Amino acid sequence: MDRHQVRRDKLRRLVKKAGTEVLLVTNFTNVTYLTGFTGEDSYLLLRHDGEVVLSDPRYTTQLGEECPGVDLHIRRPGTEMVEVVAKALRSARIGRLAIEADSMSVALRDQIAGKLPKLEIVPTSGLVEQLRQIKDRDEVTRLRQAVRLAEKAFAVLKATLRPEKTEKQVADELEYQMRLFGAKEGSFASIVAVGSRSALPHAVPTDRRIGEGDFVLVDWGANDGLYNSDLTRVLVTGKILPKVKRIYRVVQDAQARAIAAIRPGVAAHDVDAIARETIAKAGFGRCFGHGLGHGLGLEVHEAPRLAANSQTVLKPGMVVTVEPGIYLRGWGGVRIEDDVLVTRDGNEVLTSMARRLEESILKCHV
Ligand code: GLY
Ligand code: MN
Ligand code: MN
Repeated sequence: MDRHQVRRDKLRRLVKKAGTEVLLVTNFTNVTYLTGFTGEDSYLLLRHDGEVVLSDPRYTTQLGEECPGVDLHIRRPGTEMVEVVAKALRSARIGRLAIEADSMSVALRDQIAGKLPKLEIVPTSGLVEQLRQIKDRDEVTRLRQAVRLAEKAFAVLKATLRPEKTEKQVADELEYQMRLFGAKEGSFASIVAVGSRSALPHAVPTDRRIGEGDFVLVDWGANDGLYNSDLTRVLVTGKILPKVKRIYRVVQDAQARAIAAIRPGVAAHDVDAIARETIAKAGFGRCFGHGLGHGLGLEVHEAPRLAANSQTVLKPGMVVTVEPGIYLRGWGGVRIEDDVLVTRDGNEVLTSMARRLEESILKCHV
């Protein structure tokens, strides 16, 4: 059976559990997951006995190519999406409609309610996202590919890094290299942060030059056309500062311990706690201000989260980042980020790049 159909059938069971038989999928990434269609501005109306994609003429050909066999309702130019939704609901005589509360706008909800005053609207949250947490074999293959593309580009960066290059130039070159190797694009705008700028976990690349600091933090990832990777490495480009060495060791230790704990049945918050305690014991507890990691897939940040308040229990097929960091304002930060697959009996680190500080020392000043 087609894998998108398998996903839709699983979703039907969740929709039924939520007390309705129809779900309007308004999150475009969820529409992609459920149909294979990669365009935007289109919804999926999932009934217990079938489904229809609601779209517009810009996408007719693409829909035919990407999800043949799925019923389509292509609205005419000048027709509002809400009219199409209302017509589909009316013709299927739908009295109770589940909506995706995290993506439907208040305006659309009000418009639908205005057109169909008798319709009962049932907000749901995370039904499709729950399914997306567990990757199938094809998705794992694509995630591996997304990791490889990012790693190849980084190898070029390491070989060509020069002190006169700015953070922004390096970020742009990294993006270009990922695309040359076959990526559609970067998973997000790469972070290239020299010296003290690396204390900003989401630093935006500036005109600061690589040679102005002794180390540089690079956080980047590739999108292979659908799936995303997300990695971080710190490269030593100048003096090997003892403080960098000490902090790097703590972060590396926190990451290694957390990864060692990843296996099915373990609570995501416990994995976060292991890294957090390691960093706190070394005296840097207040300097790790974000969660330990997040799921990877069609989006670069998706469920599950490895965080103190996460309720998730790890299951085979989940793919998460493990990215502890220590950030000291005015001095700099160290983060190491790798991508990890939960397997049946433990885990597999999908990234294969060097992680030891000794392997991150570049002679780019000579
Ligand atoms: N690149 C953003 C993050 O690591 O989550
Ligand atoms: Mn990252
Ligand atoms: Mn990340």
